[in-house]
Amino acid sequence: MKIITVVGARPNFMKIAPIIKSCRTSKVIEPLIVHTGQHYDEKMSDLFFRQLNIPEPDINLEVGSGSHAAQTAEIMKAFEPVLLYYQPDAVLVVGDVNSTIACGLVAVKIGVKLMHVEAGLRSFDRTMPEEINRLLTDSISDYLFCTEQSGVDNLIDEGIPAEKIFLVGNVMIDTLLTHKARAHKSSILDRLNLNNRKFAVLTLHRPSNVDNPVVFGGILDALEIIQKDLPIIFPIHPRTSRNLTPFNLDRRLEKLPNLHLIEPLGYLDFLKIISTAKLVLTDSGGIQEETTILKVPCLTLRDNTERPVTVEIGSNRIVGTNPDKIIHAYNQVINGRLIEPQIPPLWDGRAADRIVQIIIEKHSKSETQKPKPTRHYDSYKRTLATSRNEF
Ligand code: UD1
Repeated sequence: MKIITVVGARPNFMKIAPIIKSCRTSKVIEPLIVHTGQHYDEKMSDLFFRQLNIPEPDINLEVGSGSHAAQTAEIMKAFEPVLLYYQPDAVLVVGDVNSTIACGLVAVKIGVKLMHVEAGLRSFDRTMPEEINRLLTDSISDYLFCTEQSGVDNLIDEGIPAEKIFLVGNVMIDTLLTHKARAHKSSILDRLNLNNRKFAVLTLHRPSNVDNPVVFGGILDALEIIQKDLPIIFPIHPRTSRNLTPFNLDRRLEKLPNLHLIEPLGYLDFLKIISTAKLVLTDSGGIQEETTILKVPCLTLRDNTERPVTVEIGSNRIVGTNPDKIIHAYNQVINGRLIEPQIPPLWDGRAADRIVQIIIEKHSKSETQKPKPTRHYDSYKRTLATSRNEF
């Protein structure tokens, strides 16, 4: 069975690594890797392939940055001929980035089965680009693999047939558990001159936080207070970094001696600093999950989360972006007023194995059914050729 797996942006790499490994171990599924090139820097992409032992992509679409429309459209245009050439049995996409919906849409239009890993998560905030990507990808997927029960419930509420939905656990946590011991050996604490649990880690990249100078400035108001008490390490995302000068925030940051801006970190160094931090402040989705498994307090600088299990039983708290609320939540963590977090069901390091097992079972069943599902490769190629001639 041939499957094209798609990656595009940084959080995708941690999700695809265990899936590729399980496919290869199965010897039944031949996984091809298509990198859309949505993220392309050494620090945002290549380093992760090396550290997570992901094989070189079979194809890199090298699409790069752009507006949402341009980036999504470029990925679709570049992915279509790849799909027609390789003629896979299925396309597997992960997460909620533009590469996810772009490649998913190309697959279903050609009649190729679509599998979505991390399906069903909902923030119920349609101003988030990722929420739109999640809703659309789930609505066209054939197999939907969920990390937590809320994902299953959301999909059922949206009318997705139950037989397409599988609660399998969290592939991001598979990767974390695989690499935890290696990350433990990272020298990042020495390199940054940090002591165990004597610092906080901050990440920010949501457009709603960092593309708006008022919101970004408000978060800095809170950080200004917090860094007087606890040093903050801030590996800065390219989107966030790009906005500092136009928003006049670079000068403000220079005046905060304990807020340390550093380049984006590789997977192992980052895992080490979040494992050993006193707390993490973030607007990322995946980090809410990683801190939950590590039992490190996480303050999420957003008004909602699509990962409610991290709040219900994990170490996460949704605090929004109001400076007073951030400081209040910080003080609660420092004073130890958080309940002991638990590990969500099936976050045990075996999610990818479950996914691969389900794919193999479903595929062997569909192989015995006649007639075979229609894939429109040939007619589609003809249409493509005709339309090219016409235009
Ligand atoms: C994307 C995802 C987001 C994910 C995040 C992780 C979408 C809609 N958003 O957001 O869900 O959490 O990745 O990082 O898909 N850039 C570089 N080098 C790179 C990549 C990006 O400098 O390797 C800069 C470019 O200026 C680009 C900007 O970062 O314009 C934003 O990149 P983009 O892929 O558009 O979105 P992210 O904000 O990274």
